[in-house]
Amino acid sequence: QKVSGPPSKIKCINFGGYEIDTWYAAPYPEEYSRNRVLYICEFCLKYMNSDYVAWRHKHPPGDEIYRDGSISVFEVDGRKNPVYCQNLCLLAKLFLGSKTLYYDVEPFLFYVMTEYDEFGCHFVGYFSKEKRPSSLNNVSCILTLPIHQRKGYGNLLIDFSYLLTRVEKKTGSPEKPLSDMGLVSYRNYWRLILSYELLNQREALSIYDISERTGMTADDIVSALEGLRALVRDPVTKTYAMRLDLPYLRQCIDNWEAKNYVKLNPKALVWTPYV
Ligand code: COA
Ligand code: NA
Repeated sequence: QKVSGPPSKIKCINFGGYEIDTWYAAPYPEEYSRNRVLYICEFCLKYMNSDYVAWRHKHPPGDEIYRDGSISVFEVDGRKNPVYCQNLCLLAKLFLGSKTLYYDVEPFLFYVMTEYDEFGCHFVGYFSKEKRPSSLNNVSCILTLPIHQRKGYGNLLIDFSYLLTRVEKKTGSPEKPLSDMGLVSYRNYWRLILSYELLNQREALSIYDISERTGMTADDIVSALEGLRALVRDPVTKTYAMRLDLPYLRQCIDNWEAKNYVKLNPKALVWTPYV
């Protein structure tokens, strides 16, 4: 849905006490688009022209389906919490160039990642996912709030999305087209996962096996193998073989682990797939 009217003046949002510069326009109602700063409650995502209102919420709506240390994930159903989910899509649009869906939230589930402190569960990022069981995408939109980017949360969200896919006994891939930032983040994730898989392999390994263990699609595995320069094609027989540069794989993992980002703990998930 396109929203016409004068261009938005919103240059930044005030969110949980942070002023965050916006990257793109989002179709907030006109009376909220006249000011330079838009106030958004970091818990219920309601937008305001001032921070006058005393917020009453301390966490997102929905079910807390994951908690490990200070990190939680809430599953929010677009049908049960449409206003929250529309507000979430509007917030995401401020940092997304392409996606154009804001109001039709019912067909989606939203997975909101938060970090807990004495003041509540603070919004870090989220991804949305189609409920439709036949969908081949395990992520529709994904966002880490700019103040939390490049700290490993995007990777954690992606890892979480594949955990859900494995519980569903499926494979999945993010919806295309991906943004540039989405693409580098996914490539980084796929490269890491393949590095772990290939380093730990003890016997002959097929793309099908990797797919079953990781939830990744065969296509994404092949492109990740190409990224690791691990797939070689014999020009005569036109067949493929894997060639593993083990020190390189080891280095990929060591470089990543040295960053000490928060890791996913699959045991902390309490969840049954949507039916
Ligand atoms: N430039 C270069 N590499 C990047 C990158 C960037 N902007 N963002 C992620 N990466 C790569 C890096 O290798 C990074 O590791 P490093 O920071 O230690 O170098 C790795 O991916 C993991 O990044 P991470 O910190 O886990 O990602 P993030 O929390 O910053 O979130 C997105 C990634 C894509 C969710 C975030 O950039 C975002 O919300 N962008 C705007 C919305 C968007 O474009 N979404 C995707 C399309 S739907
Ligand atoms: Na970083």
